[in-house]
Amino acid sequence: VDDAGGIVGVLGAGQLGGMLGLAGIPLGLHFRFLDPAGAAFAGAVGDLRVGSLDDDAAAAALADGAAVVTYEWEGVPAATARAAAARAPVRPDPVALEVAQDRMSEKTLFARLGIAVPTFAAVNDRADLEDALAAVGLPAVLKTRRGGYDGKGQHVLRVDADVDSAWAARRGEPLILEELVAFSRELSVLAVRGLDGATACYPLVETEQRDGVLRVCRAPAPGVTGPLQRAAEDIAGWILDELGYVGVLAVELFERDGALIANELAPRVHNSGHWTIEGAVTSQFENHLRAILGWPLGSTAARGSSGLVNALGSLPPRDAVLAVPGAHLHDYRKDPRPGRKVGHVTVVADSDAERDRQLSVLQAVLDAPRV
Ligand SMILES: Nc1ncnc2c1ncn2[C@@H]1O[C@H](COP(=O)(O)OP(=O)(O)OP(=O)(O)O)[C@@H](O)[C@H]1O
Ligand SMILES: [Mg+2]
Repeated sequence: VDDAGGIVGVLGAGQLGGMLGLAGIPLGLHFRFLDPAGAAFAGAVGDLRVGSLDDDAAAAALADGAAVVTYEWEGVPAATARAAAARAPVRPDPVALEVAQDRMSEKTLFARLGIAVPTFAAVNDRADLEDALAAVGLPAVLKTRRGGYDGKGQHVLRVDADVDSAWAARRGEPLILEELVAFSRELSVLAVRGLDGATACYPLVETEQRDGVLRVCRAPAPGVTGPLQRAAEDIAGWILDELGYVGVLAVELFERDGALIANELAPRVHNSGHWTIEGAVTSQFENHLRAILGWPLGSTAARGSSGLVNALGSLPPRDAVLAVPGAHLHDYRKDPRPGRKVGHVTVVADSDAERDRQLSVLQAVLDAPRV
């Protein structure tokens, strides 16, 4: 490439990085990734440099000659992202990593912005836990403050005996106790903010988790009223503006009694936005790239009713998925492991009813026992 306008550096090279690359190649972009895993998926779409994500020198080298650097994993240390910032702009600003990496700072930010959150309290020792239980009550969820994903590091507390066993498993780690929200459903909002501060939101997505892991998405979420969509857009907009954010952000939400309660944010493209590849005018991946490069944002409108099922553990035979009319398979080329997200399948239909019919066919294919 003869100008730096062509290279995007990405910290992390998993499936999100891979899908960023797939979106950016038609735009004339080239990709360079840094990841500790030599077999990382994004190596299929760009130059993969194998190295630690807390290696400041490796991050600076990644940024050398790049137009912009971004991250596809929220576990990237903010210090590493800042090391890259010496050589190229890093977007979103690494402050978003700091906020998202600690459930206390995340929820404190939400509360400060006037966003509803579950009642929560920090827990560092047993006395804190007793105070937190008095404030939050049961049922509650005890979570690690840092490092959790896919529901890992979480304990639902319903009776006193659960408190003792969760404490035995978690004592010594910085923890947070949260009210267990009796939600009617889970939603997520994906928003993108450009370099000029312009923002756009995708339609709310309904998400279903299985054992703490995202399993099914419906987009646009059924039955969303204008006021509910606007409430979600307000939440995303306040966070984006507060963080001076550039790029795609996801906010996971609970709906209870028709109101939204914020669970957590992801400072990156997000699994609940994968439907946008086939189901929106502009995918979350393309819009993230447009934003961080200072290009005009694309329309976030949905093209129809989309449904997405994650493949957890292992992928079914490719033929079985492709035999479902309209199925779009995304294989992350990962080794099978119980509960691991190894791919997803999207369908786009003309109506919610047709989408739901296709989704149940897909779920049956993905749930079929396999060897
Ligand atoms: N306070 C809560 N009340 C009710 N359900 C909760 C609560 N916290 C978490 N959950 C359930 O557990 C799931 C995973 O929790 P959360 O999103 O906090 O964890 P995570 O491990 O960071 O997940 P992710 O994979 O999204 O990063 C949620 O989607 C929700 O189904
Ligand atoms: Mg979550």
